[in-house]
Amino acid sequence: MIIAVDGPAASGKGTLARRLASHFGFHYLDTGSLYRAVALAVLKQGAVPADAKAAEIAAASLILPDRDDPALRSEAVSAAASMVAAFPQVRAHVLEYQRKFAATPPGAVLDGRDIGTVVCPQADVKLFVTAKPEVRACRRLLERQAQGEQLDYDELLADIRARDARDMNRAIAPLKPATDARLLDTSDLDIETAFQAALRLIEGS
Ligand code: CDP
Repeated sequence: MIIAVDGPAASGKGTLARRLASHFGFHYLDTGSLYRAVALAVLKQGAVPADAKAAEIAAASLILPDRDDPALRSEAVSAAASMVAAFPQVRAHVLEYQRKFAATPPGAVLDGRDIGTVVCPQADVKLFVTAKPEVRACRRLLERQAQGEQLDYDELLADIRARDARDMNRAIAPLKPATDARLLDTSDLDIETAFQAALRLIEGS
């Protein structure tokens, strides 16, 4: 059983996907952390995220990142991740890893941008989680504040909009709902309500 949870930055898809995985006893993969790990490796070696060759080499030697590494979550790495994610060679390496993961019994929940469209088009359930950009910027701000980081709301909103545009307009695996995805707008929902709404959508799938 595969549950695909796609959506834009800070839409609530990660929290939701993690809860669904624990509810069903499935494995969970935050696929954004793979692109973040590639981006971090590129930046650490002093290259720029627009350097396709450096990004490809980093993707080829990708090992499962430590998701709790705070360096992975910085705004610089978020922006760089969406740049390296536009390179087909990077996506090809990451694709292989994700498909193997998705096949792990008894089931898996993967969250990302292209899980329902490209990585697992055969997924049993596809959710596309959205929220208004202002709500998403606010959530990200609170998330970072909880980790002791002070960010500017307007800058965060601009970064989120820029990342949405890059993710939606790239030539390969752009962010978009699969034709058979169930849409869930979490703008006015707290975590628990969003989880209950997702369960209802899954039961109706
Ligand atoms: O947590 P947040 O929603 O901010 O971002 P993320 O899921 O960690 O993804 C970081 C970046 O990786 C995105 O902006 C995308 O450019 C890229 N990504 C992707 O292209 N495909 C995926 N399946 C997951 C992430």
